[in-house]
Amino acid sequence: MTYIPYKSRYDTMQYRRCGRSGLLLPAISLGLWHNFGGVDSFENAQAMLRRALDLGITHFDLANNYVPPPGSAKENFGRILHSDFVNHRDELIITTKAGWDMWPGPYGDWGSRKYLLASLDQSLKRMKLEYVDIFYSHRPDPKTPIEETMSALDHAVRSGKALYAGISSYDAKQTEAAASTLRRLGTPCLIHQPKYSMFDRNIEAGVLDVLEKEGIGCIAFCPLAQGLLTNRYLNGIPSDSRVTKPHGFLKKNDVSEKRLAQVRAINELAQSRGQSVAQLALAWVLRDSRMTSALIGASRVEQVEQNVAGLANLRFSSAELAKIAAILVADEHTPK
Ligand SMILES: NC(=O)c1ccc[n+]([C@@H]2O[C@H](COP(=O)([O-])OP(=O)(O)OC[C@H]3O[C@@H](n4cnc5c(N)ncnc54)[C@H](OP(=O)(O)O)[C@@H]3O)[C@@H](O)[C@H]2O)c1
Repeated sequence: MTYIPYKSRYDTMQYRRCGRSGLLLPAISLGLWHNFGGVDSFENAQAMLRRALDLGITHFDLANNYVPPPGSAKENFGRILHSDFVNHRDELIITTKAGWDMWPGPYGDWGSRKYLLASLDQSLKRMKLEYVDIFYSHRPDPKTPIEETMSALDHAVRSGKALYAGISSYDAKQTEAAASTLRRLGTPCLIHQPKYSMFDRNIEAGVLDVLEKEGIGCIAFCPLAQGLLTNRYLNGIPSDSRVTKPHGFLKKNDVSEKRLAQVRAINELAQSRGQSVAQLALAWVLRDSRMTSALIGASRVEQVEQNVAGLANLRFSSAELAKIAAILVADEHTPK
């Protein structure tokens, strides 16, 4: 059936400015790391993407190697893009990254110009696109000069194959170096994509300050800690959850008693706010005005709907924040 996006799709989504750039991103963006690959249901992937757009999610995040098999999420996304979203390309922010292992040999990994630019070409081919909106260095490469990696991003932008440049998983010092190199080259760093959730607060120790100073936006990946920060595992491990998937990056050991005790405590607080654990976890990530977007994953349409509905309450009282801090501090002092 021909898909026509809802006319009302922009009425309720909140859009936030990406650093000091001209670009606005939805407060919730959708990533295609899991559940959109060749082993997954194409119909389910299509339904999630359609519903996301209907809810005003304009940003879809990919990487060259999204799995399994590597690259298949791109091919599926490309198919859906050209069948369903073909008349809406200018309403979408589509991103890709390169920096992790993709093909054999010395040119299919890390941060060389050779790898990044070949990878971008392959990604465009898979998605049958002329350009992506943001091209990221997926991780810092300690052995490649930062000038080389950044000049590859700069080249991608100058050649018209990407509109903006971004970095992912760079620490504070690496972020400063990347930002100043890109500025010198004439292509500002638009955005940083770090891991950030109640269970991983590393970026609070420096990265966020650098981003604010440099005027770079921030999109948090794994804001639900891959599903731990939801009600998914409160009553055992469901057979259709990420933990049970052989290619899943969340492992059984990650669902520890310690984590579950924290999630139960968060759940109590969430219920008192009329929210689910996932909704509270996303609101917490978005509480900082330096945060542009929370980049979620999903395995079904209902999760996308629930997460977007949570945007109705992003405010926290100081008592609630103190309660969350106490739950998380308990984490820091308890062995895993
Ligand atoms: N830059 C990087 O290095 C990097 C690394 C990792 C990820 N990313 C990006 O970040 C995106 C998101 O990562 P992620 O999928 O790990 O994010 P996440 O949002 O932390 O976890 C998503 C998982 O949480 C569960 N979930 C989501 N909403 C739920 C709800 N309302 N109720 C119950 N469970 C819910 C689902 O698990 P089930 O599948 O079990 O239902 C879903 O697959 C990726 O797709 C990718 O674009 C980037």
